[in-house]
Amino acid sequence: MTQATKPGRLPGSPSPATADGLGGLERQRAWVEVDAAAIEANARALHRHLRTSELMAVVKADGYGHGALTVARAALAGGAASLGVATLAEGIELRRSGIEAPVLVLGGLSHEQDLRSCLHWRLMPTISRLQEALLCQSLASGQGRPMALQLKLDTGMARLGVDWEQGPRLVAAIAELDAVRLAGVYSHLASADLPPGEDGGLTRKQQQRFEAVLASLRQQGLDPGCRHLANSAGALSNPGLHYDLARVGLALYGHPPAAHLGGVVALEPAMALRARVTLIRELAAGVGVSYGHRFRTQRPSRLAVLAIGYADGVPRALSNQLEVLFRGQRLPQVGAITMDQLIVDATDCPALEVGAVVTLLGGEGGEEITPQEWSNRCGTIPWEILCGFKHRLPRLGGSGGPAAR
Ligand SMILES: Cc1ncc(COP(=O)(O)O)c(C=O)c1O
Repeated sequence: MTQATKPGRLPGSPSPATADGLGGLERQRAWVEVDAAAIEANARALHRHLRTSELMAVVKADGYGHGALTVARAALAGGAASLGVATLAEGIELRRSGIEAPVLVLGGLSHEQDLRSCLHWRLMPTISRLQEALLCQSLASGQGRPMALQLKLDTGMARLGVDWEQGPRLVAAIAELDAVRLAGVYSHLASADLPPGEDGGLTRKQQQRFEAVLASLRQQGLDPGCRHLANSAGALSNPGLHYDLARVGLALYGHPPAAHLGGVVALEPAMALRARVTLIRELAAGVGVSYGHRFRTQRPSRLAVLAIGYADGVPRALSNQLEVLFRGQRLPQVGAITMDQLIVDATDCPALEVGAVVTLLGGEGGEEITPQEWSNRCGTIPWEILCGFKHRLPRLGGSGGPAAR
C-alpha cells in the first residue's frame, strides 16, 4: 500500500480521533475503501500492455468515485504519463493539489473564461471548433508560451468533436495560429466494448476515418501531435488502436470493460464498499419487510439491518437482488432498499452480529462481488455503479478487507 491512507483513516485527516469524532473506523456506518496500490499495479500492467504507447489515466468524476487525487498519484507512480478529466474544476483540483503531469480536459469548453483558466492552470482543452482555437490564440498571444490544446474528431460517436471530414481543414487553420500548439488529435470509440463481429463494423469504420484524417495531415505536412483513439476497450481489444496513447478509465480501476476482455491484462479491483450491521431482528415467518413489503419472511428469520442505502449510491433497483459478503458467505438482501438502510437475511449466518462489517462490493473471505454483477442485475453499466457512491461515504485507504484489520 503505497499511496493509500492507512486503513481506518479518513484521507487528509490528521489522526483517527478527529474533531468531529468520526475519524475512527469503528465509528463509520459505511465507507468506500480505495486500494491505491491496486491502481498503481493496474497502471503498471496496462502501461506494459501498451508497450510503446503512453497511458493516460482517466480520473474524471472524482476518479470514477475512487478519489481523483489518490488515483492520479497512484496511476502516475505506475507509469501513466498524463491524466484525463471531464471538467475544468476537476483539472484545477489536480493542479491545486500539486499534480504537474499533463492534463487533458475531455469535456467541451467554449467560454472565454474557461479557456483562460486552462491557460492559467496549464490544462489542455479539447477543441471541436475553430472559434475555440481562435479564443485560445487571443488569450495566449503575448504570453511567451503557446497554449497547448487538442482537437477532437467525431468519427462515429456523434458527441464532441468536429466532423472527421472537416478535421484536416481545422488542423491547417490551427497550424496558422502562432500562440496555439496542437498537442494532439483524437477521437472516441462508441462500441469498442462489443465482442468482435457484434459492433456492425463500427470500430473499424471509426479507425478508418481516423486514419484518413492522419493520412491527409501527413500529405499536407501537418503535425497532429499525439494521436489517440482507444479507451479501456480499445486498449485491451486491439493493439492497432493504441497509436501514441490510450485513455484508460475503467480498466485502471480493476474492471474489464466487457466480459470477453477479462484476463487480457491481469487487473485488481481497487474499490470495496463496506457497511456495518446496526441491528439484528428475530422475526416470525410471514412478516412483510421494508417499504411495500416486497419481501415476506418464509420461515422464522434473523434479519440484519445495514447502515447504507440508495442515498449512498446503492441502486434501489437492486432491491431483493443484492447479495452481501460476510466471512466469504453470500447473504441475500431482502425487501426494498431504503434511503439510508437496507436489510439482509442472516438466518443462515448466526455469526453475524451488531457492529459486524459486511462487504457489498469487492473481495472478502475469498469471495468477490463486482460492479459488473450489480450492473447486470439492475440494467446499468459498471461505470455508473462506481461513479454513484456519494460523498456521504468516506473514502478510506485499505486493502485486504475487514479481516486485514
Ligand atoms: C473521451 C473519453 N476517453 C476515454 C474514456 C475512458 O473510458 P473507459 O472508462 O471505458 O476506459 C472516457 C470515458 O468515458 C471518455 O469520455
